[in-house]
Amino acid sequence: MGKKVTVVGAGFYGSTTAQRLAEYDIFDTVVLTDIIDGKPAGLALDLNQSRPIEGFETKVVGVSTGPNGEGYEAIEGSDVVVVTAGLPRKPGMSRMDLLEVNSKIVRQVAENIAKYAPNAVVIVVSNPVDEMTALAQLATQFPKNRVFGQAGVLDTARFTNSIAETLAVPVKSVKALTLGSHGDTMVPVPSRCTVDGKPLSDLLPAEKIEELVVRTRNGGAEVVALLKTGSAYYAPSAAAARMAKAVIEDSGEVLPVCAWVEGEYGISGVYLGVEAQVGRDGIKKVVEEKLTDTEIAGLKEAAEAVRAKQADVANL
Ligand code: LAC
Repeated sequence: MGKKVTVVGAGFYGSTTAQRLAEYDIFDTVVLTDIIDGKPAGLALDLNQSRPIEGFETKVVGVSTGPNGEGYEAIEGSDVVVVTAGLPRKPGMSRMDLLEVNSKIVRQVAENIAKYAPNAVVIVVSNPVDEMTALAQLATQFPKNRVFGQAGVLDTARFTNSIAETLAVPVKSVKALTLGSHGDTMVPVPSRCTVDGKPLSDLLPAEKIEELVVRTRNGGAEVVALLKTGSAYYAPSAAAARMAKAVIEDSGEVLPVCAWVEGEYGISGVYLGVEAQVGRDGIKKVVEEKLTDTEIAGLKEAAEAVRAKQADVANL
């Protein structure tokens, strides 16, 4: 059987993710679903009509799903499912303000994934993502390695872009990293940032680095404030698609993702932004690298913040 990926939710995040996945031309089928009647089918038709111009063969299938799981048969056999379903933030909202409303949506989506695509690797991007990832694992009852969340790849890209712009260097020459939550307790990791192999701390004063750290932490809100309606989707979809690619190609590459930690950095039993090797079974292995004491303290703080909220989602 051919390679198949499903994207749940055909908003801007979902539809751009579907587009990127189709344009990679590594899947036979991209399924795009939404609860809105006709929208996913229309977007799929539009994307398929771009195939001769963009030169990809992947077929996009758009399916509207009903309140009792109608339509979900279309996701059967998916190797990967990317969950974007849920509401985005409005200006002034924190991702946590979406907890209740998105919990209901993500739980229902996850139950349908468990029923129709029981072997899929699930990548969650719905916000608040650390909590929605925990909820998706709970509701699917999939092994924890097969459910993980997107945040670190996006936050790292934002950090990288800011560093590159500040130093007027190509983004390629910058290596950066963010860990922790996709929220207030995000942990950008300056000690792991280099530019052409040189430590960032040799190139920028501490105050400037701190400014970039703060901007990274507020990266999503900065876009929301400018858009006024909806949240970012170009960089987020690039991150989600890239993770799905790592899964289907069994690349084993190390990416910052929201993964279940079991003892790494002295933290256990929580979904948290860490570096992990990603492949065909989802998370192959969480990778623990050397961090400064301050960074480890930040990571522990993030773990405790998300632990409390992740416990709440069981009842939402
Ligand atoms: C962001 C949202 C998608 O960070 O969480 O842009």
